[in-house]
This record gives sequence, C-alpha cells and structure tokens, in this order.
Amino acid sequence: MNSPAIGILGTGSAVPQQVLTNADLATRVDTEPEWILMRTGIRERRIADAQTASSDLAVVAAQNAIAAAGVAPADIGIVICATVTPDTMFPATACLVQDRIGARHAAAFDLSAGCSGFIYGLACAVPMLQAGLHRYALVIGVDTLSKITDYSDRATCVLFGDGAGAVVLGPVGAGRGFLAFELGADGSGGPLIRQEAGGSRLPATYATVEARKHYITMVGQEVFKFAVRILGAAAEAVLAKAGLDIAAIDLLIPHQANIRIIEAAIDRLDLPPEKAYVNLDRYGNTSSASVPIALDEVVRSGKLRQHDLLVMVAFGAGLTWGATVMRW
Ligand code: ACO
Repeated sequence: MNSPAIGILGTGSAVPQQVLTNADLATRVDTEPEWILMRTGIRERRIADAQTASSDLAVVAAQNAIAAAGVAPADIGIVICATVTPDTMFPATACLVQDRIGARHAAAFDLSAGCSGFIYGLACAVPMLQAGLHRYALVIGVDTLSKITDYSDRATCVLFGDGAGAVVLGPVGAGRGFLAFELGADGSGGPLIRQEAGGSRLPATYATVEARKHYITMVGQEVFKFAVRILGAAAEAVLAKAGLDIAAIDLLIPHQANIRIIEAAIDRLDLPPEKAYVNLDRYGNTSSASVPIALDEVVRSGKLRQHDLLVMVAFGAGLTWGATVMRW
C-alpha cells in the first residue's frame, strides 16, 4: 500500500447496561445454559432497552474514539457507519451520528456488509485518506441485533448481543498503519442469514409481521462451515498480500461469533491460541461491532505495543468476509 501511512489514532466502544445471561434465556426457550456455553462459548450478552437505538450506542463509541484520538469533531471528513440495524431505513445512521457528534464538515454514509461491515468500512476510508480527500475519518461498527432477533427461536437468540465500536483514522508515522485489505462476498449464500421482510422485496405488512419475517433467520450449520473456512483463508490472503507470514502476527482479532469457529480458524492457521483475542463470552455476537469493541478493549488494556502486527478478520451476512493487516 502506498504512502502516506494511515493508521488508527483512537478507539472507542459502547455496550448497553442490561445483561442477558444464558440462564435468563433458558427461562424463555427450550435450552440449557451449559449447552449455550459449550456450543458457542457465550455466557452473557448486552441488550439495548426499548429507548436505545443503534445511533445512541454509535454516538458514545464515536465520542470515546474521538477523545482518545485527540482530534476535533469538526476536523473529521468522513463518517462511515457499518450496520444492518440502522435507526431507520433512511436517513443513514451515519448522518444522525455526524450531527450529534458535531462532525459538521464530514460526508456520512452507512454500509451494509453484515458482520464484516467494520472491515469493509476501514477498506473504504483508508484509500480516501491516502488519496488526500480528507485528513481524518471516523469508522463505526454498530448493531442492535436484539431488535430483530426472534426470542422464541433458540437457534439464533442465544447468539446475538448489542454494541458499538469506533475508530478515528488519520496519518501515522512511516512504517505504521494499514498494510493490506482482503474483501470478498458470495451472494449465493444470502439466504443463509437474513432479515427477509421490511425491504422493497417484501415491504412491512401485517402479514409479514405475523409470519415473523422481520426477524433474523439463519441456517446455522451452513454459516458455521463457511465461517470456519473463510476466517483462516481471509487471514492467510491478507498476509500474503502484505508479503508477511502467519508467524509474524502479534495479535489476531477475529469476529466474535462462536468460540468453536475461532478455535477451528486458529487451528487451521497454526496460530498459538493466546494470539487470538476473545471476548464473546461477555458480549455474544455483536455483528459489525464485534471487531471494533474487541479492538477497543485490547487498546485500553495496553495489550498492543507500537509496531505490533495486528490482523482483524470477519465474516457475515451477504455472505461477506473481510480482513486487514496493520502495523500498530
Ligand atoms: N439449545 C439447545 N439445543 C439447541 C439450541 C439451543 N439454544 N439451538 C439448537 N439446538 C439444537 C438443534 O435443534 C439440534 O437439535 P436436533 O439434533 O434435535 O435437530 C441440535 O441442537 C444441534 O443443532 P446444530 O445446529 O447442529 O448445532 P450446532 O452445534 O451447529 O450449533 C450454532 C448451532 C451455535 C447456531 C452453530 O451452528 C453456529 O454457531 N453457527 C454459526 C452462526 C453464526 O456465526 N452466525 C452469525 C454469522 S453472521 C453474523 O455474525 C450476524
């Protein structure tokens, strides 16, 4: 990737206060807390209340990232919000955030790439900054999947949680920043995880609501097989683009969907398990927010040192995948 070097200047995140445990879920659907833990690695997740929309979490995450970066909101030139649960179909949630954080000179748009959305957002913003379009960009991954989760479907409701993560991107010293991106999609897998109704194909009607078509449906085993294959493959591909070896990785932040998916991927990569960051036991799968929330935790706990090699990799609805490698 050509100079100028673009990197992450600050990170932030936000999760709702309300905790939904496996034991709570066992009172609502036919499941066992132990089953959920063994099959997914998830113990609890955070759930937004009725008054909290995606933009509310995104604003807090964005403000935290901006404070950490030490930039003025008015100096941000681009706001990208990756989400599949925008406040409304339009206007874009990115525009709501742009207004509320005072990024009044920024262009703003939403991006729909499922759980890969945050990586897709980085891959859009970095070249824009490198081309000199703007100096700073704000990339947010936010989802409140609880709003479209069917809490009578035990195969999906145990997986998802709500949250937001954000980063401010800008110029960094030579030898640091983003080195390569790898993005992909297989649209033939779209029906494997989707929200069928509420768009132009099947607009909202009483009948679609009665048929529960505004909820997520998922063919779990197929998504699982895809995920195991693609997480490792995307990480390998992005490292190859950067001319680097798996052994050079200091930290891997994978999409936090299921511990068995992460374990299978690191096994395939032959990566020591301690090099993969995992927090899904506390948050479940927060979709677009999962990678940036994990990144914010890593940064704030001081786990990343300057010049460490960081790989972030995700897969999601679409089907989509994305990976990036950067020198911290
Ligand atoms: N509690 C108890 N039993 C359950 C539950 C539950 N919560 N959910 C499913 N089961 C049952 C099934 O009904 C099935 O029963 P049967 O054998 O009598 O038919 C049995 O458990 C086994 O079901 P599987 O689907 O084979 O279970 P699996 O081990 O595959 O785990 C899971 C299911 C956790 C959903 C897994 O397939 C998975 O994680 N898939 C990937 C999901 C994912 O990553 N989605 C998100 C991708 S996109 C995004 O991130 C938004």
